[in-house]
Amino acid sequence: MANKLDHHHHHCPRLMLVLYFTSVLVIGSVAAFLCLCSSKPSLSSVSSFWIPQNPPEIHIQKQRSKQWNDTKDVRLLLSATYADLPATELQWEQMPSAPVPRLDGYSVQIKNLLYVFSGYGSLDYVHSHVDVFNFTDNKWCDRFDTPKEMANSHLGIVTDGRFVYVVSGQFGPQCRGPTSRSFVLDSFTKTWLQFPSLPAPRYAPATQIWRGRLHVMGGSKENRNAIAYDHWSIAIKDGKALDEWQEEVPIPRGGPHRACVVANDKLLVIGGQEGDFMAKPNSPIFKCSRRREIFNGEVYMMDEEMKWKMLPLMPKNNSHIESAWIIVNNSIVIVGGTTDWHPVTKRLVLVGEIFRFQLDTLRWSVIGRLPYRVKTAMAGYWNGYLYFTSGQRDRGPDNPQPGKVIGEMWRTKLKF
Ligand SMILES: *[C@@H]1O[C@H](CO)[C@@H](O)[C@H](O)[C@H]1NC(C)=O
Ligand SMILES: *[C@@H]1O[C@H](CO)[C@@H](O)[C@H](O)[C@H]1NC(C)=O
Ligand SMILES: *[C@@H]1O[C@H](CO)[C@@H](O)[C@H](O)[C@H]1NC(C)=O
Ligand SMILES: *[C@@H]1O[C@H](CO)[C@@H](O)[C@H](O)[C@H]1NC(C)=O
Repeated sequence: MANKLDHHHHHCPRLMLVLYFTSVLVIGSVAAFLCLCSSKPSLSSVSSFWIPQNPPEIHIQKQRSKQWNDTKDVRLLLSATYADLPATELQWEQMPSAPVPRLDGYSVQIKNLLYVFSGYGSLDYVHSHVDVFNFTDNKWCDRFDTPKEMANSHLGIVTDGRFVYVVSGQFGPQCRGPTSRSFVLDSFTKTWLQFPSLPAPRYAPATQIWRGRLHVMGGSKENRNAIAYDHWSIAIKDGKALDEWQEEVPIPRGGPHRACVVANDKLLVIGGQEGDFMAKPNSPIFKCSRRREIFNGEVYMMDEEMKWKMLPLMPKNNSHIESAWIIVNNSIVIVGGTTDWHPVTKRLVLVGEIFRFQLDTLRWSVIGRLPYRVKTAMAGYWNGYLYFTSGQRDRGPDNPQPGKVIGEMWRTKLKF
């Protein structure tokens, strides 16, 4: 599809974009938040998550920074996974912020419009609307509701350039359960259409349109943490299903929060993680509690042989990048994300690099740095500019732990 858009819209620089989503993170975020709190059970009570306006945070924060400071030297000695990679400085220009901050929001780009879906406003509040940004005049220009039964985060999402397929995902705040209900947005008429439910509910499955079929892979299973490997597809045209969900070759590594891209007639699944926060047993509000998460930087590719093959690893393990990518000039560009927990501080480490994967040479490189580290950002590309908006940013240049949930939007001129 990325491809397809490319052909259809050459008036925009041959790029295309599609972007997609991310979802990201809730978990991450949550995790982040919560976690900030660390993997030690004793600290888990610090799960206050939301950051800025919360007075008790202050105390916690102090502790955290102290801990971080103590380990600064250690950090330098650790593997590159936890450290920022060398990158060129880019000139960033701040654009109008989104109407609401979002963690685990998802996006698609259709021509000059970026559609930003749902996500968490805070761990206890999820959005159920779409905000639209116009790249031509750089304004947030529209807002409309999502269907009541549609998931609020951890969506599978993809567009064919008009219809936006929204598959399964988490319904409600905290670590509530998933729904298998799926919907289609006709972006031209702003109407929602019914779509066959996924055979089983999933959190943040990789989702793309490839060879006339909507493909949905991996994600987390019903308890939010268990790894799903299933791969289903269904034939689609103009927002409608033409057959029923059928099983395809399962993906060798499952799990949620990956970038999923179609380029040069190949289906690619990039990065992600295994495991995620889960609802505390018997918690009436489905309070999130931390579970083991394993991040990865693997790249899986399926081509006409219909077998999964591995391509070169990302420069870092990276997750929560569902909507954090664009395609331009035969390269995939991915912004930010979240990488392995820091082994000493046990904190989540956010990613501030911009990665490029060249589809002709299959080479990864780091092509720049964001204004800050951020996960579950949503990316777009228009008229030579790379844009990103929203997500959860770090706590400052020296502290890569998750901090504030934002709605900021930034852009930079992109030139390889
Ligand atoms: C880190 O800790 C050292 C002493 O352990 C202190 O001198 C320094 O000011 C601290 N830095 C920050 C940023 O807190
Ligand atoms: C986007 O902005 C351009 C320039 O102001 C305008 O012509 C166009 O109608 C806008 N599109 C939408 C959907 O608002
Ligand atoms: C990345 O994650 C894998 C597990 O998915 C782990 O084995 C590896 O140590 C991590 N770090 C790096 C730098 O690859
Ligand atoms: C993509 O190619 C076009 C045409 O050669 C060029 O103008 C544009 O700057 C390139 N984009 C990037 C991101 O390098």
